[in-house]
Amino acid sequence: MTHLELMKDVYYVGYVDFEVRNFHGYSTHKGSSYNAYIVKSGEKTVLIDAVKRPYYEYFLSNIKHVCDPSEIDYFIVNHVEPDHSGSFPLILKHLPNAEIIASTRGKEILEAHYHEELDKKHFENIRAVKEGDTLEIGNGKQFTFVPIPMIHWPDSMVSFMSDENGKNILFSNDAFGQHFATSKRWDDENDIAEIMWEAEKYYANILLHLSGLITKAIPKVGALAIDIICPSHGVCWRTHIGKILEAYTKWSAGKTDGKSVLIVYDTMWGSTEKIAKALYKEIIHRGISAKRFRLTNADYSDVITEAMKAKAILVGSPTLNNGLYPLVAEYLSYQKGLKPMNKVGMAFGSYGWGGGAVKEIIKELEETKIDVMEEKIEIRFVPRPEDLDFKNIVDKLVEKMG
Ligand code: FEO
Repeated sequence: MTHLELMKDVYYVGYVDFEVRNFHGYSTHKGSSYNAYIVKSGEKTVLIDAVKRPYYEYFLSNIKHVCDPSEIDYFIVNHVEPDHSGSFPLILKHLPNAEIIASTRGKEILEAHYHEELDKKHFENIRAVKEGDTLEIGNGKQFTFVPIPMIHWPDSMVSFMSDENGKNILFSNDAFGQHFATSKRWDDENDIAEIMWEAEKYYANILLHLSGLITKAIPKVGALAIDIICPSHGVCWRTHIGKILEAYTKWSAGKTDGKSVLIVYDTMWGSTEKIAKALYKEIIHRGISAKRFRLTNADYSDVITEAMKAKAILVGSPTLNNGLYPLVAEYLSYQKGLKPMNKVGMAFGSYGWGGGAVKEIIKELEETKIDVMEEKIEIRFVPRPEDLDFKNIVDKLVEKMG
């Protein structure tokens, strides 16, 4: 028995990263983890995934707590992004007897990443698996490999282990993950509301633009007799599997929280903020839920999570140099990449002479395939009280939200 034992025959050998606060631009307020696992069948030993390169020593030490690394027969690489494969070239030196298994694209992308460090023979010997390929490891345990291209990279796959004598486990890699650091490895050992929020934020920031593919993948995953999901980030799922599958179905379908509004803006001398606050007041007076974020004080990873759920996204910017205020431009660019679905949009802002920001907002929203209202709000310099009467425009917004 070791503290790394997750359940019978399955061990956690990853790294919990309490310090990370920025994951390629995504704000990780609660850290993250790079999960890796070892499965033992009594006949074979399998390592599943690796960790970010800086945590290689910790990873190796965990493996050594569980087994002699030379006893590892198979090393499954579900995904090559460096948060999982960064330590791949280093750990290989300790796995002289392991056959490496990856998807066909994984084999190719491993070489594209690590050709400087490893001989060609390392890549030639990788077993490339395709959908439905299996690996028997003895004592009733069998892996089935299912590529899930673009969830999150072209190489991504999941490995499903059926076990005649135990639990069936889906090693899902990025899917169903959360950027969340905890010493408690199971969903039901943590606050489930907190875990679901992090899963939602993870979906919004990493997977939202891939929703079309996820919609197709969910039934495939749902058809497996899963008892446990072990992702590559955050906690493992054993009690709330139905909840996370249902949430993925909802998020990937672009379902929103009824009539709800996100107001996102920045302000230079306070005029655009006055518009944002007046819109908010008019909306909530009608019993419609609304959230308001000033981008100077909010980070776009949190805001996009709200954008995924809202029915309407109202974006405000003052005009600066005939165009957008910088943080608004940054947010709109991020939002355009992630493509939130089924949204109504509206632009507002203040200007001094020529204007330009509102026009730019509309262009960005349209390129995001958001259904932009014809109506817009543009106010010169400082709004007068009568300029802030938004009854008519909010009527139209409510109508458009359906
Ligand atoms: Fe967690 Fe796509 O890497």
